[in-house]
Amino acid sequence: MKIKKAVIPAAGLGTRMLPATKTVPKEMLPLVDKPVIQYIIEEAVASGIEDILIVTNRSKSAMDDYFDYYPELETRLISSGKEELAHVVRSVADMANIFYVRQKETQGLGHAVCRARRFVGDEPFAVLLGDDIMMSEKPVLLQLIEAAEKYSGSVVGVQQVSDKAISSYSSVKMRHIEGRVYEALDLNEKPTFQEKFSNFAVLGRYVLTPEIFDILEHTAPGRNGEIQLTDGLAQLCKISRMLAVDFEGRRYDTGNMKGFLEATVDFALQSPEVGPWLRDFIKRKAENL
Ligand code: G1P
Repeated sequence: MKIKKAVIPAAGLGTRMLPATKTVPKEMLPLVDKPVIQYIIEEAVASGIEDILIVTNRSKSAMDDYFDYYPELETRLISSGKEELAHVVRSVADMANIFYVRQKETQGLGHAVCRARRFVGDEPFAVLLGDDIMMSEKPVLLQLIEAAEKYSGSVVGVQQVSDKAISSYSSVKMRHIEGRVYEALDLNEKPTFQEKFSNFAVLGRYVLTPEIFDILEHTAPGRNGEIQLTDGLAQLCKISRMLAVDFEGRRYDTGNMKGFLEATVDFALQSPEVGPWLRDFIKRKAENL
């Protein structure tokens, strides 16, 4: 199975990053020199995705503008000798075929994914959560896609987290297959310490089969009164094969201030333009703390 379509749920209100996100969508906050959503789309494209559906809401139109051409700006840059920058500005709009649908009501991640049904049709597809930014050698989504193709199933991307952290994620019951690949047997959303299946948490990357839509359309609201993708996955893994890949790479939760700052520092350190300067700056700062 070839996976060419991806869905990015981006209709959240961004309440953990207020007041910055009152009018700027959290996906548009700049991480070094690019908005957060661009990192997600770059990972998808590097994993072979061609068509991307972003699930938005009424306050997110800055995202559609960002992935559009901006002829006045490009002409101005070219006429002032900044061809390279003009090319960068334009190439953002040409990275993939990007589609949009509005969620209309905030009813949870499962409900947001359901909005993608018409776009997806009858093929397996990827889901990338907008807050979870990855730094890895091989794109994290590609690691999942390879497992989906090799073992013919849906896939969740997992990593181990602490006892304290697991209640912020979905926890997965799993059985080892080989290497970093497991079979997922059950999942639960934001478990208490007593409820958790393991310390393996799903961290924002999924490959799903279209059976998920029928399931989600009949899934009752769960945690926080929202339709939870995890509740749908718990049913999906009972009727067809689901893998869990303990992916290689570092994941940042850019939906909260600490995760956002960690990502900013780490990505800036990797940048050829500002990395060496920042390393020096941090060293000098640390000496005076
Ligand atoms: C969402 C999912 C959760 C997952 C987490 C990963 O939670 O509901 O299952 O483990 O993303 O980032 P949220 O962070 O939106 O509360």
